[in-house]
This record gives sequence, structure tokens and C-alpha cells, in this order.
Amino acid sequence: MSGRSVLVTGGAGFIGSHVGERFAQRGDDVRVLDDLSTGLRSNCDAGWRLFEADVRDPAAVREAAAGVDLVLHFAAFTSVPESFERTADCRATNVAGTRNVLDACAHHGVQRLVFASTCAVYGELPEAPKAETERPEPRSPYAVSKLEGERLLEEYARAGVTSTALRLFNVYGPRQLANSAYAAAIPIFMERGLQGQALTIYGDGHQKRDFVFVSDVAEAFLLAASSSRSGVYNVGTGRAVEILELANAIAALTEDPTAHHFVPTRPGDARTSAADITRIREALDWSPTCTLERGLSETLKWYRRIAR
Ligand SMILES: NC(=O)c1ccc[n+]([C@@H]2O[C@H](COP(=O)([O-])OP(=O)(O)OC[C@H]3O[C@@H](n4cnc5c(N)ncnc54)[C@H](O)[C@@H]3O)[C@@H](O)[C@H]2O)c1
Repeated sequence: MSGRSVLVTGGAGFIGSHVGERFAQRGDDVRVLDDLSTGLRSNCDAGWRLFEADVRDPAAVREAAAGVDLVLHFAAFTSVPESFERTADCRATNVAGTRNVLDACAHHGVQRLVFASTCAVYGELPEAPKAETERPEPRSPYAVSKLEGERLLEEYARAGVTSTALRLFNVYGPRQLANSAYAAAIPIFMERGLQGQALTIYGDGHQKRDFVFVSDVAEAFLLAASSSRSGVYNVGTGRAVEILELANAIAALTEDPTAHHFVPTRPGDARTSAADITRIREALDWSPTCTLERGLSETLKWYRRIAR
């Protein structure tokens, strides 16, 4: 199905802009609601209609959602460490903001919403890959707020809004910014590697993460939006990679000879995070297609280009 009108909240950000592109490629009409707090106008295609507004503003969200067929909800307070310091801000955007989006869907009769949730809801569960059937153990205000977002989706199902939550693991790719103190590992490693600087590693570096390339994530949103299924699905690769192994790979790709810099671990960081992707494979016929090697090389091409 194409030719739909799609609202992407947070569509000027890293993942939202890739998802917007994927829907536009299919012939959908894309509009974006974004306050440009971390997102960039330049991430939005010239053909998209941009509503520069805050998801905490119910009237603005209603205006942006008028006449759309589906909503993809990314706008969020995204930093785990900062969520400990600014819990009220985090909750206002991630809980009240999500309620505003769902209210707007119910008001306009938008029947489908796909929500960007997070693997952080699993917290510190045992080593094995995380399955959706496990009881969440969120360990940060950010993770709690996303889990509450998922519960709001269930509440609004009774108002006729069918929705899916995708629990994203560690997403990476072009346009992911390294310019915040809390940016993700891959952009920081790439930027520092290209500058010939030491890569900073929290803890001993043996903690593991499941890195999924952004184009695979965009495909998961497309499939989830096109399906009538609801529920919660993991989006990862199922493969856990050690941060130290990742740092070594990026140091080699960027030809950075500097020794890594080890610093104490951060609050709220899980030891091992990897997805069990059986459910999404079976229900939505989605599986990742991009290897870490290819994803890193495509991402590095982008960082080299912007570094010029
Ligand atoms: N990057 C990851 O690995 C990852 C993992 C799990 C979940 N997620 C979720 O995916 C979504 C997108 O994350 P991202 O990595 O692309 O981050 P991002 O910061 O690039 O994108 C977030 C976008 O939301 C916008 N935004 C923030 N607060 C807003 C507000 N109050 N009103 C309107 N717009 C607002 C920002 O300007 C930005 O464009 C988030 O919901 C995040 O929690 C990301």
C-alpha cells in the first residue's frame, strides 16, 4: 500500500529521517512534527511538510495529525544518563507527549501508529537474548517513560488506534550525531577515530550491545505500519558485539593508532544487550540484511564526508 499520508514525529532526527525517506520512496506523502531540539531541518527532504512544534503541545500535535493515515512516533527525550538529572522533562516528552500523539490519532480517526520504544526496558536481565515475553526491568527514568509509552498504546487500542511498539536495540548509521556528551558509541568512535584521538570506553569494554543498521530499522517500521498486527517487537540483529571489539574495528577502519581511554562505567548502562528477534521474524517477516562490516563502512563514508 502506498500513497498514504504519514506523520513522522521526530522526523528531523537520525532514525525518523531515514524512516521518512523509506516511506517517501514508496510514494507516501511525508509530514514531520519536530521541535528541532536535536534534529536538523537539513535531514528533512524538501518535499516534506515540516511542523516545527513540540510534541508536548496537544494543539500542535492535533494540527499536524489532521488527515493523516498513519503516525510514526519518534519524538523523544532520548538520553539515558540525562534522564536521571532531568526526569520531569523526560516524562513530559516521552509520556505526556506520547499521550498527545495518541489523543490526536483518536481525535482524527488515525487507525495506525508505530512507536519507537527501546531495548532499555529490559534493563539488566541475564545474558541470554531478550525476548518480548520477559518481564521488563527498566533501570532509568528514560526506560520507565518508554515502557509507559507502550502501556499508553494498549490503553488507546480501546479507542480504535491500532499500534505497534518496536523495541529498538542500538541503532547506527549516517546522520547519527556525535556532538552530545551522551551520544552513542559508534558516532563518537568514528569521529574521534577520524581525528586520530583515543576512543573512550566505559568500564572494561566487555559489555555487549546489539547494533542494528538504520536502513534495517526503517524497513521494520514499514512492515509494522503495513501490517494489521499490534503488540511489541524487538528490532535488533540477535548478535551481541563487545564494545572493545567495536572500538578495535573502528580504530582499524579509521587507521587510528591511539590507545583506548578507559573510564568508569555509567549509571543505567546494561552489561549485555542482545535481541531475540524470533517474534518479528515470524509475525512481520522482518530480518536484518546489513552486516556490521557493511554498516560500519557505509557509516564511516558519511562521517568522512561531513568531516571535510
Ligand atoms: N538511536 C537508538 O539507538 C535508539 C534506540 C532505542 C530507541 N530509540 C528511539 O528512537 C527515537 C529516535 O531516536 P534518534 O536516535 O533518532 O534520536 P534523535 O535525537 O536523532 O531524534 C529525536 C527527534 O525528536 C525530536 N524531538 C525531541 N524532543 C521533541 C519534542 N519535545 N517535540 C518534538 N520533537 C522533539 C528531536 O529534535 C529529534 O529530531 C527516539 O524515540 C528514541 O528513544 C533510539
